[in-house]
Amino acid sequence: MVNIVSMPDAPEKMGIIPGIPSSLKSPIGFTDGRYTIQGIPLSDIVEQFGSATYVYDLDFLKEQFHYFSKVVCGSNSRFKIHYAMKANGEPHVLQTLAEAGAYVDTTSPAEVLLGLKNGFTEDRILFTANSLTDEAIAFVQNRFEGRVLMNFDSLDVLERYGKAFQGNKVCLRFNPDVVAGEDPRLQTAGAKTKFGIALSDAAEAKKIADAYGLTVVGLHEHTGSGISDKNALLKSMDNLMSVAHVFPDLRFVDFGGGFKATYKPDEKPVNYESLGDEILDKLSDFSKKFGHDLDVYLEPGKYIVAQCGVFLASVTEVRQREAANGEVKRFVCVDASSKQFARPSNLMDNGNTAYHHILIDKDPHCASQNEQEYDVVGNLCLTGDLFANNRKLSDDVRPGDVIAILNGGAYCYEVSSIFNMVPSAAIVVVKDGKASLVKARESYEKFIEKYQAEYTEPQGGYPSLSSKQRIIQFG
Ligand SMILES: Cc1ncc(COP(=O)(O)O)c(C=O)c1O
Repeated sequence: MVNIVSMPDAPEKMGIIPGIPSSLKSPIGFTDGRYTIQGIPLSDIVEQFGSATYVYDLDFLKEQFHYFSKVVCGSNSRFKIHYAMKANGEPHVLQTLAEAGAYVDTTSPAEVLLGLKNGFTEDRILFTANSLTDEAIAFVQNRFEGRVLMNFDSLDVLERYGKAFQGNKVCLRFNPDVVAGEDPRLQTAGAKTKFGIALSDAAEAKKIADAYGLTVVGLHEHTGSGISDKNALLKSMDNLMSVAHVFPDLRFVDFGGGFKATYKPDEKPVNYESLGDEILDKLSDFSKKFGHDLDVYLEPGKYIVAQCGVFLASVTEVRQREAANGEVKRFVCVDASSKQFARPSNLMDNGNTAYHHILIDKDPHCASQNEQEYDVVGNLCLTGDLFANNRKLSDDVRPGDVIAILNGGAYCYEVSSIFNMVPSAAIVVVKDGKASLVKARESYEKFIEKYQAEYTEPQGGYPSLSSKQRIIQFG
């Protein structure tokens, strides 16, 4: 492992950082005219590890987990925080959260295996998948002998599971029938989405469970991601609780994730301070009637992990293009691709790419105060290869400058691809004032060697077809 160690801690770390709106939480500090993470200048990280590079501040991550636990859950032990691994499955991120006391929400058999490798015991893992094959169900059931609880989101899957594995405990995912989330592609409830058993099918679900001796110990819902309206969250919870009485053996209810982290300068953070108490209030009726308290599972992904990550890239060119009508378009081109850092170009926000704040790594006190609008673009053969569009940046941005893209910890690396054969970015973690490379950027040769080696030749070679057969087969 390669390390660099910090300078003395940045005095501004907890205060206002020039160039970063106060609405945003980030691990970036500012010392002696240089942007830093735990006192380590961003420019030193790029000098040592190159770009494009993700930096995850693991101490910041741990603090954010404890912050969520305190503010949202009031540190009440009835809450079990199931970190949604899909947001970021980097092993050190997972280990940090497991050590901090998190449980984990997994979406595929491979995520279950990854959780187990990184500190989560079977009893701390919930497996919530959809469109499940019998083979995937059997893998999780047989491999863990029922010790990883499965959460089924359709009557059909429940029945298939019941027939094959009678007498087990299960959790059921319902569709809470509330539409919310920061992009239509991130809304996971309501009639237009595939997820969850309809609330009106609760009695039918109980009948199927009874028929196979299954005990329904948990109910689950997840409404969407980046929910800015706390009332939408509360309404989903009410809707789920409206069917809780059908399942007298319940031990917990799981209200999913979707807690909103701030991304934009003008965004007001959602105030979650009273949420824990409001949730417990909702459960009190159930507890009175059924004589026992329920645990509450929450599944934050983005809120826990987005802000600990920063993506570093270097400017390769600054271009200006003038159309015949005199309109000028400016581009900041960087040595990274939007498939390495995929979130901005995957989601839209009022016709623009999803907003991620971008800093140019120069002392803002010395930089030009004049701003221009730029598209910040990557190195792919794709017009949609964007990190930001129409973004105001200082007009002295130059080739060789490092840019830092904030909120890079959630759904950025995870949804990356190798489009145009661009290898994935390097990953550096920072802990206790030390930056360590945990995933190297592959050389072009090594990357292509690995890529090519994953393919095998068709067995027996290609069939040789007569020209007549070809016409029949291929038209
Ligand atoms: C079932 C489930 N739980 C939790 C999450 C985490 O959502 P977020 O990262 O917005 O908190 C998701 C995200 O899609 C999800 O599908």
